Amino acid sequence: WERPDVRPFRQRLLVVANRLPVSAVRRGEESWSLEISAGGLVSALLGVKEFEARWIGWAGVNVPDEAGQRALTKALAEKRCIPVFLDEDIVHQYYNGYCNNILWPLFHYLGLPQEDRLATTRSFQSQFAAYKKANKMFAAVVNEHYEEGDVVWCHDYHLMFLPKYLKEYNSKMKVGWFLHTPFPSSEIHRTLPSRSELLRAVLAADLVGFHTYDYARHFVSACTRILGLEGTPEGVEDQGRLTRVAAFPIGIDSERFIRALDVPQVQEHIRELKERFAGRKVMLGVDRLDMIKGIPQKILAFEKFLEENPTWHEKVVLLQIAVPTRTDVPEYQKLTSQVHEIVGRINGRFGTLTAVPIHHLDRSLDFHALCALYAVTDVALVTSLRDGMNLVSYEFVACQDAKKGVLILSEFAGAAQSLGAGAILVNPWNITEVAASIDQALNMSAEEREKRHQLNFEHVTNHTAQEWAETFVSELNDTVVEAQLRIRQ
Ligand code: G6P
Repeated sequence: WERPDVRPFRQRLLVVANRLPVSAVRRGEESWSLEISAGGLVSALLGVKEFEARWIGWAGVNVPDEAGQRALTKALAEKRCIPVFLDEDIVHQYYNGYCNNILWPLFHYLGLPQEDRLATTRSFQSQFAAYKKANKMFAAVVNEHYEEGDVVWCHDYHLMFLPKYLKEYNSKMKVGWFLHTPFPSSEIHRTLPSRSELLRAVLAADLVGFHTYDYARHFVSACTRILGLEGTPEGVEDQGRLTRVAAFPIGIDSERFIRALDVPQVQEHIRELKERFAGRKVMLGVDRLDMIKGIPQKILAFEKFLEENPTWHEKVVLLQIAVPTRTDVPEYQKLTSQVHEIVGRINGRFGTLTAVPIHHLDRSLDFHALCALYAVTDVALVTSLRDGMNLVSYEFVACQDAKKGVLILSEFAGAAQSLGAGAILVNPWNITEVAASIDQALNMSAEEREKRHQLNFEHVTNHTAQEWAETFVSELNDTVVEAQLRIRQ
């Protein structure tokens, strides 16, 4: 017997994420300008032809007035985006508070907030309440736009309650949830006061996805140890209902990066950069200015390398692009001053009148400038303390087919599981080891660089973002089909 094919042509995909793929800037009472952001998720879904994707999320701005909301909704509709309006208090408690001060550090093994980050238990509770309230607001917007046959794909730690609320609205809705961060060991997750509620809310989904097999395994262990449910090779079972749990490693739109290198503007940038850093090896870091990225540790390792290798002074430069992020959260503000202090000290110590060892930029670069920078780099340093995947490492590899530079990669980034064979893997907490890997990378023979690059390049070009999205959604469809078949039998 054959499984009936229930998929309609060009199925609608509702992608729900905290942040919409466009950023909105208010130009007047009823006028908005929108800019598409070039994040991984956006390019992944732009390339998926099989589905008609619509986005639901927060536009990143507070719009208290109805006229403004109406105008923004209209402008966003042209980009197939649907806004969820969150007021300032919710943003403070849900986004800055529960998401970025509690879940984000915990999922990256940095633990729960200490006294100075969380004054009272009451504030934890009110942040959790705001988290649930925000998730309900997202659910209401999804429900309003849902049509029979749609699939709903919820993203990330901001929306762990969304599967539960959506299923409460409509148990037939096909709901998938994907986590872009690591899911920590169950021993870490169990420290969270709301540990069980969060797990149960996620389990309401039909399919739960992670970047790596380890994260999926941690999630299943948390469900078995904390909730006492049964873990199977397929997922988690609760009273005969299976929530499928699996790994779906994301990729990038590698073609977009490779094509960009031929654009005249990028070629011009490359020429300028080569001239500017002639006679020096270029090392590069590109990170959001976030504590999980290990920027202070990376810079201290570079200092150690300079200390131990005086012959390299003035022959190597570290370019660190640190993109400001979540600047309302005190932890992030502290990190910014800490990084500035270390960079200043090292440049004072090793700089000369004509050159400094570290160029540190607190801003993002446009896509073309970034591609040029990737292309001229000799050694990329991706030394996150923890990272769900880390696509900077993929982007670097995609832009290196001419130069064949070396990637130094943290063993605690999800990408270590896919680029481990070609990269030099390091423990970012071990500054001596990272300093030694810089030495190894700068002195590596051309043959070894070529061999390592080839391994990585093949992976990056063969495991694209489009393929990631298609695999997840088709598996989500199958999961639901199977569930329906079980009911029919
Ligand atoms: C990580 C998260 C994303 C988030 C992004 C930027 O990659 O997994 O969900 O959108 O960081 O952070 P922000 O807080 O600015 O949205």
